[in-house]
Amino acid sequence: MTRRILDRDAYARDGFLVLEGFAELAACRRLCARAEAIADAFDPGAQRSIFTTREQTRRSDDAFLASASGIHCFFEEDAFDEAGALRQAKAASINKIGHALHDLDPDFERFSYDPALAEVAAAIGLREPLAIQSMVIFKQPQIGGEVGCHQDATFLYTDPITVTGFWFALEDAHVGNGCLWVAPGGHRGGLRQRFRRGAGGMTFETVDRAPLPRAPDELRPVEVPAGTLVVLHGLLPHWSDQNRSAARRMAYALHCVEAGADYPAWNWLQRDPSLPLRRLDRIARRDRLDR
Ligand code: FE2
Repeated sequence: MTRRILDRDAYARDGFLVLEGFAELAACRRLCARAEAIADAFDPGAQRSIFTTREQTRRSDDAFLASASGIHCFFEEDAFDEAGALRQAKAASINKIGHALHDLDPDFERFSYDPALAEVAAAIGLREPLAIQSMVIFKQPQIGGEVGCHQDATFLYTDPITVTGFWFALEDAHVGNGCLWVAPGGHRGGLRQRFRRGAGGMTFETVDRAPLPRAPDELRPVEVPAGTLVVLHGLLPHWSDQNRSAARRMAYALHCVEAGADYPAWNWLQRDPSLPLRRLDRIARRDRLDR
């Protein structure tokens, strides 16, 4: 990964940073191939979790909650027909893989704990960033679904709010294939909702009725080549459209929270204690990974 000087003032002003050429193209290709292999090996017969942010209630089945400490594939909304059969090849039906790739898969681990990323985190003011969640977003050609406008702090809440997203374009991202869209400066608008785990399942609690920016008119596209890192403040409203092109648009996203912040027990993502969170700059512990 490439080292560079960061514009910390721009991050404070805009709530995001675009670092083109941060990751080597060879590393991006390696992660794409690894994600394909994970999807290939996944048995859709066993678990058919679907991922969507469009509905008020995101699927909160056991597999979704268990994915906090595992590697799980989630299918596109309309991947299966009425009879429960896949409409197309499995590899082309996966929406995303989550959520502990960075601690369980050696390729994603090496990429996530690269010292260059820890340097970026330090440069934007993170003191002790713990890598809490990772995902590969496939954005399949034609069917790769929209991700509704949201703030990451809704899903990974801490007090104070510290969640920070590191979004890597593994393939070129543009308006036609569902790139990120952001609301520059929108991170200063406060948190709108919290996604809470409760006795009756997951619910969205409204903390501020101010609407999120309307997509796409009130947002700006972030068109970037493969290898680009986009850093996202946890309160920055962002969105991505459906992929309407004939080519896939794969991305890898890693989220961190500060070690010192309070992480409530009602957050959906609760790590198994046998898989403790690690700092971004913490070198891999082979003994645990090989177990
Ligand atoms: Fe997000």
